[in-house]
Amino acid sequence: MLRTVAVLPTFDMLLFGGTGDLVTRKLLPALYRRYVAGQVSEQSRIFGIARSVLTRSEYLAQAESACRGFLGDEFDSPHWERFSALLTYMKIDASVDQDFEQLKSALRDRDDFVRVCFLSTGSHLFAMICNNLAKSGVVTPLTRVVLEKPLGHDTVSADLINTQVGAVFSERQIYRIDHYLGKEAVQNLMALRFGNALFEPLWRRGLVRHVQITVAEELGVERRGQFYDQTGALRDMVQNHLLQLLCIMAMEPPASSDPDAVRDEKLKVLRALRPLRDRDVLTKTVRGQYKAGAVRGVPVPGYLEEADIAPDSTTETFTALKVEIDTWRWAGVPFYLRTGKRLQDRLTELVVTFDEVPHPIFEKPQTSNTANELVIRLQPDESITMTILAKNPGEGMRLKPVSLALDLGETFKTRSLDAYERLLMDTVKGNLTLFMRRDELDAAWRWIDPIRDSWEAYDDRPKPYIAGSWGPASSSALVGRDGFSWHDEL
Ligand code: BG6
Repeated sequence: MLRTVAVLPTFDMLLFGGTGDLVTRKLLPALYRRYVAGQVSEQSRIFGIARSVLTRSEYLAQAESACRGFLGDEFDSPHWERFSALLTYMKIDASVDQDFEQLKSALRDRDDFVRVCFLSTGSHLFAMICNNLAKSGVVTPLTRVVLEKPLGHDTVSADLINTQVGAVFSERQIYRIDHYLGKEAVQNLMALRFGNALFEPLWRRGLVRHVQITVAEELGVERRGQFYDQTGALRDMVQNHLLQLLCIMAMEPPASSDPDAVRDEKLKVLRALRPLRDRDVLTKTVRGQYKAGAVRGVPVPGYLEEADIAPDSTTETFTALKVEIDTWRWAGVPFYLRTGKRLQDRLTELVVTFDEVPHPIFEKPQTSNTANELVIRLQPDESITMTILAKNPGEGMRLKPVSLALDLGETFKTRSLDAYERLLMDTVKGNLTLFMRRDELDAAWRWIDPIRDSWEAYDDRPKPYIAGSWGPASSSALVGRDGFSWHDEL
């Protein structure tokens, strides 16, 4: 059941890349849901913007079919009728000035209306779109620009885009999106860490043995072969989603929940990451590429057989890294990061493994994992589980790991907001907490670039793995060398 929420200020939302997957499969369903929840005022308007020649009704038909597919039983025709009255389509070519003038005249000249320009296009178009928005007078003090990832492909290109966008919008008007930050369970991680006094004293070296962050996907590259082949797992997932999760795990408690207080602390983590470069990449990183196999019993082709992939591509579809954070809190505690496509399960999980008891007084349990673990699961379900050792019933003191489990869906009996629902509404409210600041993005790229350069310099090619497995064997070896296993391999 959805709670009704306060209606937000009236807005005009301009969705550039309006015929693309992100807009039709994620953003429009997210806006529809917020509309049904009563958060979107009837005066608000949504513009799908793209280069295709389409009438409004053709666009609405496309949007409706995508939303129906995505929302399933939640789709309700009377609600859609009313929601789609807010939706319109405009054909705009990013390079044609006149097209933007036409856009300007379609907008309402009210200084109190928020304007959100969501750029769901390739980042090479960001500067051109922003300049044209400014030239045609679309940019008001209440206008915000949302930049979808990937923002550039390395430090230099990201810096250039940031400078160009920064010439039009002030930093407080720029919303760099990382949808992982909008996931309910990530919010819950913040609540767990900073809303409870219990964990803080444990959250450090000397008590935490190691941390694992896994973002595993069953999907392959789908229809994005061309983009993915030039990007790879490190830039597609680690540079943004995994590093942001790492920041939230590792950051110091911020002084408040203000956007800059939170972002300052995340930045400190990014800047304290020990560089991974030169020969380090051979022992502390793993690259993999999937071969044909089966995911949940369904045969799937290998990466090189997918559409739009170069036949001799050396792009990684899997990567695992051992990351060290050079701070007092985390010195000596490895953070293992792992992500890949066509893995055995769809699973996003953060696992904190604590130290074993210093001196066992009971019989050694017949299991290898006797350390306490805190498992925060983001996908497919949202849960927080703590394993503790309890006494097995019966004679003697035989201990066994058991779980204290909190299923968030079950507990709150409500559907969590989809990440884009929360983030889109935050852009309207003007709340930047869950968006990346320029210096964070810069620090993330500065850490990523040497890894890629070193992979190239040492000709570290991806190791093959069978689709439907947990990645190449060297991934297990990465944690195995330190005496650990991946959580799912225990
Ligand atoms: C995107 C990546 O940012 O995140 C995709 O570009 C990936 O390759 C997706 O599939 C995963 O997001 P989610 O929310 O489905 O885990």
